[in-house]
Amino acid sequence: MSLGPCEIFEVGPRDGLQNEAGEIAVADKVALVDRLTDAGFRRIECASFVSPKWVPQMAGSGEVMAAIRRKDGVRYAALTPNMRGFEDALAAGVDEVAVFGSASEGFSQKNINASVAESLARFAPILEDARHRDIPVRGYVSCVVECPYDGAVAPAAVAEVADKLFAMGCYEISLGDTIGAGTPDSIARMLLAVRDVVPVGRLAGHYHDTQGRAMANIDASLSLGVRVFDAAVGGLGGCPYAPGASGNVATEAVNAHLTALGYETGLDQDVLEQAAGLAQAMRG
Ligand code: HMG
Ligand code: MG
Repeated sequence: MSLGPCEIFEVGPRDGLQNEAGEIAVADKVALVDRLTDAGFRRIECASFVSPKWVPQMAGSGEVMAAIRRKDGVRYAALTPNMRGFEDALAAGVDEVAVFGSASEGFSQKNINASVAESLARFAPILEDARHRDIPVRGYVSCVVECPYDGAVAPAAVAEVADKLFAMGCYEISLGDTIGAGTPDSIARMLLAVRDVVPVGRLAGHYHDTQGRAMANIDASLSLGVRVFDAAVGGLGGCPYAPGASGNVATEAVNAHLTALGYETGLDQDVLEQAAGLAQAMRG
């Protein structure tokens, strides 16, 4: 029996590769994105227009965007922390961008050198400009359960930032369990608070698998109505400003799980596994 559609938003080429210690050639990144294009995603996060001093691994983002093979109906996305990044992303031809904030002050400072309030003020002109250009903007909220610097994060703090990003015009709010500290209970408490201010159909779960609980957290989220999950092929990933943030939950595992439950993802499991092989090989 079909339980209806459930989408995986592929973040491996960005969240996965941003954390790799060794240099990864632009051609390898392009090959990974191209394979992912063949897997049937509707949205793939390929790049990040951040300071190369902060995240050297994303330095070739413009070249990656220029070289990928684009398929109709697929949106190729990138992170943009400020207007400079947004302008670079537009010049590189991205289809959608993402701003990324945090529910905790400590992570906000360490990750983007701004308080939560300052970060929202930085995002405002991006959202304003994107609205006129009809560029979709996604909004990330990091540390939705726990912050590596500040400890436990209250569901109300997550709801407040999610509400503000949604009101500013983000079409979807991706809720990041950045260090994989969430449990089905804490994720559910957080979602119940966020669902009160942002429609559940506009939420995505972005769960790192640091403690091996990402799949259980996806199940808890499904039961509360979430139908979009971020994942990275091969379980690549982490965040350079979140010590201990190991990989995102692996796309091929999430796809197999959702499909077994009866959800339709539109993805080709064989191609995903090939892409996972490519991702693992790149990692060395
Ligand atoms: P700053 O140092 O406060 O900014 O950094 P600044 O405006 O003072 O600029 C400093 C230098 O960076 C200048 O260069 C700027 O030109 C340059 P300099 O004069 O020193 O040569 N610069 C840029 N260069 C390229 N692209 C740009 C850009 N902006 C400034 N867009 C800034 C502030 C936000 C730029 C910096 O903190 C930064 O780049 N942070 C990014 C951190 C990051 O990418 N973290 C990982 C992504 S978030 C994540 O992984 C979590 C997520 O997956 C969800 C989850 O799991 O929770 C999304
Ligand atoms: Mg992440």
